[in-house]
Amino acid sequence: MRLLCALLLAACCRRAAGVLGEAEPPEPELVEVEVGSTALLRCGPSQAQGNLSYVDWFSVHREKPVLIFRVLQGQGHSVAGEYEHRLSLREAGAALALTHVTPHDERVFLCQAKPPGPGEHRLQLRVYKAPEEPSIQANTQGISVNSPEPEEVATCVGRNGYPVPQVVWYKNGQPLKEQKDRVHIQSSQTAESSGLYTLRSVLQAQLRKQDRDARFYCELSYRLPSGSHMKESPEVTVPVFYPAETVWLEVAPAGPLKEGDRVEIQCLADGNPPPHFSLSKQDPGTLELVEERTLEDGVLVLAPARREHSGRYQCQGLDLESSASLLSAPRELRVDFVSDVRVRPAAPEAHEGGNLTLTCRAESSQELEFQWLREETGKVLAPQSVLELQNLDREAGGGYRCVASAPRVPGLNATRLVSVAVFGPPWMALRERKVRAPEDALLNLTCVAWGHPRPTITWSVGGTASEQNQGPQGVLSLLSVRVTPQLVETGAQCVASNTLGRNSTRFLLELACNRSTGPSTATVGPHTRANGTTTEKKLPEPQSKGVVIAAVTVSLLVLALLGAVLCFFHKKGKLPCGRSGKQDITLPPSHKSTFVVEVKSDKPPEEMGLLQGSRADQRAPGDQGEKYIDLRH
Ligand SMILES: *[C@@H]1O[C@H](CO)[C@@H](O)[C@H](O)[C@H]1NC(C)=O
Ligand SMILES: *[C@@H]1O[C@H](CO)[C@@H](O)[C@H](O)[C@H]1NC(C)=O
Ligand SMILES: *[C@@H]1O[C@H](CO)[C@@H](O)[C@H](O)[C@H]1NC(C)=O
Ligand SMILES: *[C@@H]1O[C@H](CO)[C@@H](O)[C@H](O)[C@H]1NC(C)=O
Ligand SMILES: *[C@@H]1O[C@H](CO)[C@@H](O)[C@H](O)[C@H]1NC(C)=O
Ligand SMILES: *[C@@H]1O[C@H](CO)[C@@H](O)[C@H](O)[C@H]1NC(C)=O
Ligand SMILES: *[C@@H]1O[C@H](CO)[C@@H](O)[C@H](O)[C@H]1NC(C)=O
Repeated sequence: MRLLCALLLAACCRRAAGVLGEAEPPEPELVEVEVGSTALLRCGPSQAQGNLSYVDWFSVHREKPVLIFRVLQGQGHSVAGEYEHRLSLREAGAALALTHVTPHDERVFLCQAKPPGPGEHRLQLRVYKAPEEPSIQANTQGISVNSPEPEEVATCVGRNGYPVPQVVWYKNGQPLKEQKDRVHIQSSQTAESSGLYTLRSVLQAQLRKQDRDARFYCELSYRLPSGSHMKESPEVTVPVFYPAETVWLEVAPAGPLKEGDRVEIQCLADGNPPPHFSLSKQDPGTLELVEERTLEDGVLVLAPARREHSGRYQCQGLDLESSASLLSAPRELRVDFVSDVRVRPAAPEAHEGGNLTLTCRAESSQELEFQWLREETGKVLAPQSVLELQNLDREAGGGYRCVASAPRVPGLNATRLVSVAVFGPPWMALRERKVRAPEDALLNLTCVAWGHPRPTITWSVGGTASEQNQGPQGVLSLLSVRVTPQLVETGAQCVASNTLGRNSTRFLLELACNRSTGPSTATVGPHTRANGTTTEKKLPEPQSKGVVIAAVTVSLLVLALLGAVLCFFHKKGKLPCGRSGKQDITLPPSHKSTFVVEVKSDKPPEEMGLLQGSRADQRAPGDQGEKYIDLRH
């Protein structure tokens, strides 16, 4: 009972004191609002509100209340001054609305209702504003680990917040704390005319080598009516300079090196910035280190690498800041090679039925493996350096290749090709050939012969002859000759001879019709007129198959007849239209487009293929080969 009485008395005294403005005023009611929004000011708790038809509102500025709004008979009236246009009554007069709140509005407001009301009521307006996204600016100049004092790492700026936000710096996600002589954080704020604050925080730190990849950022924490919030800046890194502790040497490619490779030797160090390098090679004679000239600092490119590049290399790094010099471990480099593949005898030759031994040698920095291959077929003949050839025949002549390879160095090999010559009389590509050509045409005749010693070729008829070698034992002769009736009579012959004998190829000539469209220099070739397809294509669109066949047959017959008549008149009294040409015109047209290509030789084709010399070289340019066109049916 006594306690209750005391409480009531205390409440009574407080009210009396408030009204009189004496002693300490009660704690004002807190009203929190964001900048720019509207604050609702209520004159006391709703249950205590009484008659609000007559209320005076004050803003307290420097402890002095200034009248800003009056409620008379329930009607609001602005008072001239700072708040003239921003105050109005809301909620049927229960609240006073202050619009467009700014940081300057953060003050105490006071209301006095006419009795019998709740009397005087105080409100503290608290204003908040989130800062903008923080920006961060890293030190791009870089920081040396040898710096005696903490250096600026980054600066963080958070604009237009209210009140001033708190800043926390992070390194690799861990918050940084102030540390004597190691970490300093200096923050300052500037008040804008709007009343908002811009925070600027500078992080200074002494960095170590392991900080070269460290990520720094700042975090701003601030309060809003809704609670606590925070914003983070982007992460930044800072160049860290530190002296090199080790210098070393790298060689690419890794693994064994061989002549011809592109080899790169590079000096490396663990310092930032890298030191100035010099790359030296030991002189094999004096054992002194001789500096190599390099295009790029500390990079030597050997392209192509040669055996002389083998040796002992060493890098030296000179730190420009500390003038400290560091040496790398020396590195032995070996450029492997295979060269000077030689075959004994150098120009092997043997008689038919004889034996031959080929021996292969080579220079190398490595142990070698040898192999003998037949050049024409690629067939492996012997897996060692000595090749024994026994009972040689004509077909055994030709190319043999010795391959010397170093199995321990992939791709390192060298080869030598030798040609084995088997003594023998000339061997002709063809024994006989038939050629059709129009009269007066310029005809090219080719003749190919092999033998050892290499044969020489002579022609039975005059003309312009030219020769070219076909492999080590072959020769090709080309004769350009004008087609005359006399030449057709006699034919032509090429004779190949060497010390061991002679052999020949005969050319039988046939006269082709001298048609107006025929090329004058053509030796062999179908005439376009004789090409049934061409003729058929020129026909108008056929009505039916029967009509087409009839039309083709008739036109071809007419053409053939016309050709025969023309030819007959052209050569009347002279020669027939080719020696066997008279069948030409009697052929049914369907047969005219069918040309028969025949191989004319006294040897079957398989045997021809075994002729001495490189097969690929046997076909001469302009050589009509074993083919000729036969119209005889
Ligand atoms: C408030 O007081 C006025 C005059 O003093 C009176 O006219 C009015 O009715 C009262 N209103 C309330 C709700 O008591
Ligand atoms: C070739 O070698 C074989 C086998 O060694 C031998 O029988 C033959 O007599 C030799 N021929 C010649 C011409 O030396
Ligand atoms: C020889 O060397 C070449 C490249 O230099 C390589 O392509 C080839 O495979 C090598 N041959 C052998 C048998 O090692
Ligand atoms: C002439 O060459 C042919 C191959 O065209 C060959 O069959 C013939 O034996 C050779 N004649 C002589 C005498 O060597
Ligand atoms: C064949 O034609 C050529 C040119 O097309 C001509 O010079 C030559 O006299 C003709 N020969 C005959 C026999 O008509
Ligand atoms: C004949 O040979 C000569 C010289 O090689 C060449 O210029 C000419 O074109 C050849 N003629 C024919 C029809 O092949
Ligand atoms: C006929 O000529 C055509 C094109 O002009 C060609 O494609 C075809 O091969 C020739 N036919 C013969 C048999 O020459």
